[in-house]
Amino acid sequence: MARIIGGVGTTHVPSIGKAIADGKQNDPYWKPFFDGFPPVHRFIAREKPDVAVIFSNDHGLNFFLDKMPTFAIGAANEYRNEDEGWGIPVSRAAKGNAPLSWHIINEVVGEGFDITMCQEMLVDHAVTIPLQLMWPMGDWLPIVPVAINTVQHPLPSMARCYELGRAVGRALTSYPDDLKVMVIGTGGLSHQLDGKRAGFINRDFDTLCMNQLVADPESLTRYSIPQLVELAGAQGVEFLNWMAMRGALSGTVSELYRNYHIPISNTAAATVLFENRPRAERRKAA
Ligand SMILES: [Fe+2]
Repeated sequence: MARIIGGVGTTHVPSIGKAIADGKQNDPYWKPFFDGFPPVHRFIAREKPDVAVIFSNDHGLNFFLDKMPTFAIGAANEYRNEDEGWGIPVSRAAKGNAPLSWHIINEVVGEGFDITMCQEMLVDHAVTIPLQLMWPMGDWLPIVPVAINTVQHPLPSMARCYELGRAVGRALTSYPDDLKVMVIGTGGLSHQLDGKRAGFINRDFDTLCMNQLVADPESLTRYSIPQLVELAGAQGVEFLNWMAMRGALSGTVSELYRNYHIPISNTAAATVLFENRPRAERRKAA
């Protein structure tokens, strides 16, 4: 049976990719952000996950405003990146795990989520940058990409994204292969890149969201999308990906590490690491 060992939430700002390409991890501007990843690397080295399920949003590389699925899941054995126009190098392709993808798709559609299934799918910086941050030596895991629309309104609600994550979590734990799974949510935290509030950051709301992700994630579902835009910024709605990630963690969840740094490219940059222990194991340990 597949087992979800933990979750990571991380910012995916495109300029991180340029910083990696230019080797600027220790520059004063970047170091406080990159310092957030050694604890994640140690967790991965200890737990040795086999596959990563990544909740993220596409920025126009694969889907654009004319055709935007609310939820899409990749079902391929390879996911290519292409030139996104940000001036960052084109990443190498990520491997997939198509059988696991199809299992997840079957299960979540069976639960009432109308998924767009993609046997071909490009992945952009929202996938490739977290992979580079978490596996800097290039030993990326096979992935299952789950794309959530955070771009073209109407967006799915906080509650719906959380429930999608829960359905994906149930699908993972019913998968017969003995796999260790990391779930990852990318984007955010608070930021707005355009309009009168360009540069908007809300540390208090980001802190509340990170706190409640551990303690009471369902409490966050009371925020409507307009409220989320107001509190997190127009692009801060990428927090929806974090909600789905947290929803997939079905066991006893504890926060092992958190890093929060303002700003990177007018964005509140955050990294959180959650451990997900099966409830039975927790009781046994206690
Ligand atoms: Fe983004």
